[in-house]
Amino acid sequence: MEQIEICNRIGGLTARELDALSAGAPAYFYERAKINGRIAELRAALPEGLKLAYSLKANPFQPLVHLLLGQLEGADVTSYAEMVSALNAGVAAQDIMFAGPAKKPAEMRAAVAMGVGMCVESLREMRALAEIGRDLGRPARVLLRLNPEFTLKGAAMRMGGAPTQFGLNSDDLPAVWEILADPMLQFTGIHIYWGSQCLSESAIEEAQATSVDLIESLAPHFPRAPEILNLGGGFGIPYFAKDTPLDLPLVGQNFRPLHARLSGGFPQADIYLELGRYLVGEAGTYVSTVVDRKISHGVEFIVTDGGMHHFLAASGNLGQKIRRNYPICVIPTEERPSGGDMQDYQIVGALCTPIDLLGHRLSGPGIEVGDKIGIRCAGAYGKSSSPLDFLSHPHPGEFIV
Ligand SMILES: Cc1ncc(COP(=O)(O)O)c(C=O)c1O
Repeated sequence: MEQIEICNRIGGLTARELDALSAGAPAYFYERAKINGRIAELRAALPEGLKLAYSLKANPFQPLVHLLLGQLEGADVTSYAEMVSALNAGVAAQDIMFAGPAKKPAEMRAAVAMGVGMCVESLREMRALAEIGRDLGRPARVLLRLNPEFTLKGAAMRMGGAPTQFGLNSDDLPAVWEILADPMLQFTGIHIYWGSQCLSESAIEEAQATSVDLIESLAPHFPRAPEILNLGGGFGIPYFAKDTPLDLPLVGQNFRPLHARLSGGFPQADIYLELGRYLVGEAGTYVSTVVDRKISHGVEFIVTDGGMHHFLAASGNLGQKIRRNYPICVIPTEERPSGGDMQDYQIVGALCTPIDLLGHRLSGPGIEVGDKIGIRCAGAYGKSSSPLDFLSHPHPGEFIV
């Protein structure tokens, strides 16, 4: 059985201070020191000169976007709003990469006007961008998003090597080179995204190596030297008890010769990795308050004022086949040491549905009404990925602490 830890402070704040800051409401707390620490670890492990982009989809909270983009070289965006957020955070347009299927004409127009790099997902999109470029009198900057011909077992979410709505396939390439002859398209580089939430160093290395091979094999067709080579990211974080954290120094060591090959072959190109959850996921804790305790058929329920409407992923995404617990802690109203008698608990939210389950079959210390429950690994795909209006409760707060 997994354990609920006692954690007396989050980001240095006690339960009472967290409560005061969030005005008594459920909230996400993102720890600045952890984010800065993660950036420092990446810089130390990865090759010098490598550029890092933040994928805003992981967490679009604007103050967090500012914190990250003030320290990283670029931004990976997938909507007009994310693009504007990155521009507002001060990222130069040429360091923004705009990916995603079904880009709307108005989004593409804004991006081309600003000089944002468009990661093209289809031939139709390329043609549309050329027309927008003609209309604006300014060529569209185009990165070819390639759907790689490989798939990786190590990634929890695979985005290559299979039929997908993302990217250009190898059989599109003859048409791609033809369309790229349009002077209103400026070939800017390559974007390859093979998957997410990978905890295998060797799978990451294999994906990166195959991506570098692919880029080198296509180079003779490039109409001009690429400015950007974006190899995706996919670095995972340990959400569940059996997950082992990535050995980041090993990932960096494996990547070094590949990075050297690319920077040697394409000296004028910025080589990028784009990361979301690895930068912010472990820095976040979702905190709600215990409002009731009850026993039903011999099972002790801890009822909180939060729930799946605020943090869908922690509840199991509307019903996983095997439900797994995110790391959970109790932040007691009065600070106390770890240990003491343990009990078994179910932790549930405020919604009127049995799937509003935040912690299943957990063992924990005494938990009282008024204590706070913290769910870790809440910095990515939390608030913005949740059905916030489901059952019409208030939305959670967000704070950087
Ligand atoms: C194209 C692309 N880039 C970046 C990401 C960010 O992934 P992660 O948060 O796992 O780093 C995703 C996630 O789906 C993606 O699709």
